[in-house]
Amino acid sequence: MTTTMTGIEAAEAEGILTLRINRPDKKNALTPAMYEGLTAGLRRADQDQGIRAVIITGGDACFTAGNDLQDFLQTPPLGEESPVMQFLLTISETRTPIVAAVNGVAVGVGTTMLLHCDLVVAAEDALFQMPFVNLGLCAEAASTLLMPQLMGQRRAAELLLLGERFSPRQGVAVGLVNRVVPAYEVATVARQLAVALAAQPPDALQLTKRLLKAANSSAVRETILAEGRHFAELLRRPEAKEALSAFLEHRPPDFSR
Ligand code: COA
Repeated sequence: MTTTMTGIEAAEAEGILTLRINRPDKKNALTPAMYEGLTAGLRRADQDQGIRAVIITGGDACFTAGNDLQDFLQTPPLGEESPVMQFLLTISETRTPIVAAVNGVAVGVGTTMLLHCDLVVAAEDALFQMPFVNLGLCAEAASTLLMPQLMGQRRAAELLLLGERFSPRQGVAVGLVNRVVPAYEVATVARQLAVALAAQPPDALQLTKRLLKAANSSAVRETILAEGRHFAELLRRPEAKEALSAFLEHRPPDFSR
C-alpha cells in the first residue's frame, strides 16, 4: 500500500513502513507539509502493531537538503506546535526502530535527524553537513547534546562551529553512520537491516530501544525545545536574513555590517 502526502510517500510492505522524501527539484528540502507527513508516518508506525520497522529515505539521488530556506525566511517556524518541532519531538520519541537510507546530500536536519535513527546506511558518495552557524542559526534536534555524547566535544565543535561538509567515512568515524556501501546498494542494505529488525521479537526490541535512550530522554526533549527557542529568535535577526537571502540570490553572504 502506498500513500502520497505532500512531498512524502509512505509505502508499507512486510511490516516495514518506508517514508520517502520526494521533492527532487528542490533537493528534497523540507516544507512544513513534509514535516507533517513524516510525523504522521512515524506516529502511524507506533500505533500499528503490524509495523515493525521504519525506513526513512530520500531515494537514489538525495536524502534532503534540510529545511526549505525560502520557508525559513517567509514563514519561520514558531514554537513547540510548529511542524518542524513536532517532527523533531516525534522522531526522538518514536518507539519503532528506524533505519535511514542516505544517498546524496544530507544537510541540516538531513544530518541531525540521523541522531534519532537507530541504524544509518550511507552511500560512498553521500555528503553530510550541519551549516546552522553558517546560516546565522544554532544547531537543532538536540544535536548540541547528542553530538558531543556521540563523538566528544572536540569533534562535535568542529562539525557544528565550522559547518563544513563531511564524508560517510567520517560519519562512521564519529559514530553517526553504521554502513557505507556503493550508492546503488543503499536501498537494498537498508531494507535488509529493516527486515532483520522486523523479524526480531517486537516487545524485546522496542523495550531495548527505549532503554538505550532512557537516560537521555528528558534531556533530549528539553534540548530540542531550548534549541528551538533560540533558533526561532535567531531567524528574526539580520545575520540569518543575510545568510538565507544570499543563498536564494546565489551570492556569498556578507556579515561585515
Ligand atoms: N531550501 C530551499 N531550496 C533549496 C534548498 C533548501 N534547503 N536546497 C536546495 N534548494 C534548491 C535550490 O535553490 C535549487 O533551486 P532552483 O533550481 O529553483 O534554483 C535546487 O534546490 C537545486 O539546488 P542546487 O543548489 O542548484 O543544487 P546543488 O547540487 O548545486 O547543491 C546543496 C545542493 C544541497 C549542497 C545546496 O543546494 C545547498 O547547500 N542547499 C542549502 C542547504 C542548507 O543550507 N540547508 C539548511 C540547513 S539548516
